[in-house]
Amino acid sequence: QHVSNGSPTFVLVIGGLGYIGSHTVLELLRASQNVIIVDNLSNSYESVLDSIKLLTANHCKVEGIPVPLIHFHRLDYRSRSMRFLLESYTDLVMTIDAGGQQNMTYRSRIESVIHFAAYKSVVDSLKHPLRYYQNNVCGLVSLLQQLDKYGIHNFIFSSSATVYGTKSNSGRPLQEEDVVHHAEEHVDLAGTSSVLQPSAVGLSCPYARTKYFSEAILADVAATNAAWRIVALRYFNPVGCDPSGLLGENPRGEATNLYPVLTQVLAGVRKSLDVFGTDWATPDGTAIRDFIHVLDVARGHMAAMAWNAARGDGFRAFNLGSGSGTSVLEAVRSLEAAAGRSIPLTWSGRRPGDVGVCVASTERAQNELGWSPHESVAQCAADLWNFVKRRMARDGTSGSALQELAS
Ligand code: NAD
Ligand code: WQD
Repeated sequence: QHVSNGSPTFVLVIGGLGYIGSHTVLELLRASQNVIIVDNLSNSYESVLDSIKLLTANHCKVEGIPVPLIHFHRLDYRSRSMRFLLESYTDLVMTIDAGGQQNMTYRSRIESVIHFAAYKSVVDSLKHPLRYYQNNVCGLVSLLQQLDKYGIHNFIFSSSATVYGTKSNSGRPLQEEDVVHHAEEHVDLAGTSSVLQPSAVGLSCPYARTKYFSEAILADVAATNAAWRIVALRYFNPVGCDPSGLLGENPRGEATNLYPVLTQVLAGVRKSLDVFGTDWATPDGTAIRDFIHVLDVARGHMAAMAWNAARGDGFRAFNLGSGSGTSVLEAVRSLEAAAGRSIPLTWSGRRPGDVGVCVASTERAQNELGWSPHESVAQCAADLWNFVKRRMARDGTSGSALQELAS
C-alpha cells in the first residue's frame, strides 16, 4: 500500500462513481492505490460504491494482498466543504534545511487528482449552457485554486474527442495537434489574432466548448506555474464495462449515447434503436466512431498518472481511442452476436451536430505513455451484455434498476 512518512497516501478521484470514474477507481484499487472518491451522485448511484468494494475485496482475496483504503465523500466538488476535505488530508511535517534549521510545512497526502466530474450531455448543454459552464468550467477553476493552495499539482483531466469538432471529418485519424490547427485556421479565416473562438471553427455545442475552454485553462495554468503536471485525456467513445457485469453505464438522465440506448433496447425498456443517418460517406452509410473499452480507458489513467509523476512540469493532451473505426451498424451487429438476439432498428435522419467519422490517432499515447488499447468491440459487446443480463436477472424488466436505466 502507498504510504509516505508512515501516513497513507491517496489518489483523489472526483466524479469517481460515474461510468468512467468507477472503472478507473477499480483499476486504481486493484493496483493497491488508496482512493478518495468525491461524487455528488448527480449522475450516479451510491450502489456503485458497493460494487467497487465487492470487486476490490474479491481481487485482494485472490491475490492475497491487503485491501486498500476507499474513502467516499458525497459532495459537490464546487462546495465550500471541498476546502475542509483537502485540509483533512494535509499533514503538518517538520523538515530540516541545509543550515540545520527546523521548519514546519504542510504536506498533502493526496498525490494525484483525477477529475471526471462534469455534465456530459450534448443535448442538455444546448438547453442549459450556464449549468454546463458553471459545473465544467467554473468548477474547474475553483478546484485548481484550492489544489494549488494545498500543494497538490499532479492533475489528470477528462477531456473528449469533442474538442476536435468538425475537424473529425478530415478523413484521417485525429492527432492531438488538430485542435491547435482549428485555432490557426480561424486566424487565417478571420484575419485577426483571436484564437479562442471555437464556435467559429466547428465545435457543435456548449458541452464541447466547456472541454475546449478547460484544456485552454489547464494549459495556461501549467505555463505559469512550474509546479503543475497536467494531463488531459481525450476519450473517444468509451463503451463496455467490467467483465463482472457489476459496474456499467447507468446515467440518471435520459440516455442519448449509442450504447446506453442499445442497453435499454436489450433490456426491453425501449422498443428500437433510431439509427441517426444512413447516408454518411461510409461503407454502410452509418456513422463511424472509435469505440474503446472503458477498461482500456481506465488503464490509460494509470499510465498517465505514472508518466505525470515521473516527468517535469507542463500540460500535455493525449487521445484515448482504439485507433480504429466501427460503424453504428457494425456496433449493433456485434451486440446482436453477443446477446444472441436481434435489435430492432428504425432508420432515421442525421442527428444535428453529428460528424460522419471520428477516429483517434493513438500514436502519442503509445509512444509517450506506453499505453495501448487491448480490448475489441466484440469484447465490449460481450461485457455489456453481461451487465444487462445481470440487471435483468436481479430486477426483471420492470424492476427498479431498469427504471434507473429508463429514467
Ligand atoms: P458520468 O456522468 O457517468 O460521471 C461523472 C460523475 O461526476 C457522476 O458520478 C456525477 O454524479 C459526478 N459529478 C458531476 N458533477 C459533479 C459535481 N459538481 N460534484 C461532484 N460530482 C459530480 O460521466 P462519464 O461518462 O463517466 O464521464 C466522465 C468524464 O469524462 C466527464 O468529464 C465527461 O465529460 C468525460 N467524457 C466522457 C465521455 C463518454 O462518452 N462517457 C467521452 C469523453 C469525455
Ligand atoms: C455515436 C453514433 C450517433 C444514439 C458523444 C459526444 C462526445 C463524447 C462521446 C463526451 C453517432 C449514433 C446514437 C442513437 C444513433 N462524449 N446514434 N442512435 O456523438 O460520437 O459522441 O459521446 O465527451 O463528446 O458528442 O456518441 O454515442 O451519442 O453517438 O444512431 O440513439 O451513434 O448519431 O453517429 P458521439 P454517441
